Amino acid sequence: MEKIPFETWEYKDQTKMKHQVFNDYIDKWIKIVGKYHKLNYIDGFGGIGAYKDKNGKIFFGSPVLVAEAIEKITSKLRRNVQIVVIDEKKENLDNIEKIFQHKNISIKPLLINEDFDKAINDILDNVSNLAPTFVFVDPFGFKIRMETLERIMKINQSEILLNFMFTRVNQFLSSSKIEKTCNELFGCDDWKKCTALNGHEREACILEALRDRIKKFSKYVYYYKFEFADKKKSFYYLFHLADHYLGCSIMKSSFAKFNFGRVEYRGGRSAQLGIFEGEENAICDATKHLKKAYSGQQKTYQQIVEEQIDNTSFLEKELKTAIKGMEGKGVTISRIPQKTKTGKNRTGIQNNDIIIFS
Ligand SMILES: C[S@@+](CC[C@H](N)C(=O)[O-])C[C@H]1O[C@@H](n2cnc3c(N)ncnc32)[C@H](O)[C@@H]1O
Repeated sequence: MEKIPFETWEYKDQTKMKHQVFNDYIDKWIKIVGKYHKLNYIDGFGGIGAYKDKNGKIFFGSPVLVAEAIEKITSKLRRNVQIVVIDEKKENLDNIEKIFQHKNISIKPLLINEDFDKAINDILDNVSNLAPTFVFVDPFGFKIRMETLERIMKINQSEILLNFMFTRVNQFLSSSKIEKTCNELFGCDDWKKCTALNGHEREACILEALRDRIKKFSKYVYYYKFEFADKKKSFYYLFHLADHYLGCSIMKSSFAKFNFGRVEYRGGRSAQLGIFEGEENAICDATKHLKKAYSGQQKTYQQIVEEQIDNTSFLEKELKTAIKGMEGKGVTISRIPQKTKTGKNRTGIQNNDIIIFS
């Protein structure tokens, strides 16, 4: 086996999935948001940068994936992305540097050996008018402050991908020792009402307490469940915070791309589709849902997507196919403009088209 000049961590299946989705999304974020803006990518919990799977194959962590994505994109397109990597352990940052050297990555990230909360607040205190910034908050534990997330979302066009360690929060929720930590994490004490509940009710209560609070400062908030690879039980959730519906829509499709059309990761059971699953069922459910939600109303297509994208599990393409399928059956579409550039009648659906539900 090849001797490598850097350390690796064991690669777990969930981590592999997290990286696949992350990589797919970040590529699109750089291409789309970076078209008109400089960008910042802040990896708040950098890790050691590399992993080894059961077969000895090497995979790379988020700071390396982002740098490689930037290198690939900028070989063809003009993009300007600054990478900042924070980790409280100096040896982790040293390892990331070794990986960058080994892989001949020319990008030089700013490495900050500091506690995330302190480092990010220092940046926010000292730099005004930050370019659109994507912050990956991927800790092992849950010492995160809602106040800090709120500050980050004040940056114009910022996004956060937050790993919410559900299992650990759930386990410690009733311990009085972590009351302050929980209040800081949830930004209030709404989580306390969940301690009296059990099972699915408790899980939903915790997730909604967090989402409700985040919704006060982030327009679109969607969370993705990661089950344990080998059991039907929630492990953690990735919360995605975005101020534009497209961010939410694209992240959902990135997630579904690697998860058999689902917006959750089911470990080893991922490939098994239930009888009420699959794209056709989703479109059928979306049709019923839209009919009920918009009966007697008219909205632009974009308004419908904006209202539905983080409130339902439907992907944007499922909403669009459902609307198209309803055309002439209780739904009229007023297309603006009516004709294509070549003068033909348009049949597709675009953002400004008006959807009229009878
Ligand atoms: C789950 S790993 C990050 C993995 C990385 N995002 C990746 O994709 O490879 C979490 C990292 O956070 C670091 N860490 C833990 N607490 C921290 C804190 N308060 N501030 C900064 N880094 C911290 C740990 O040293 C560890 O390297």
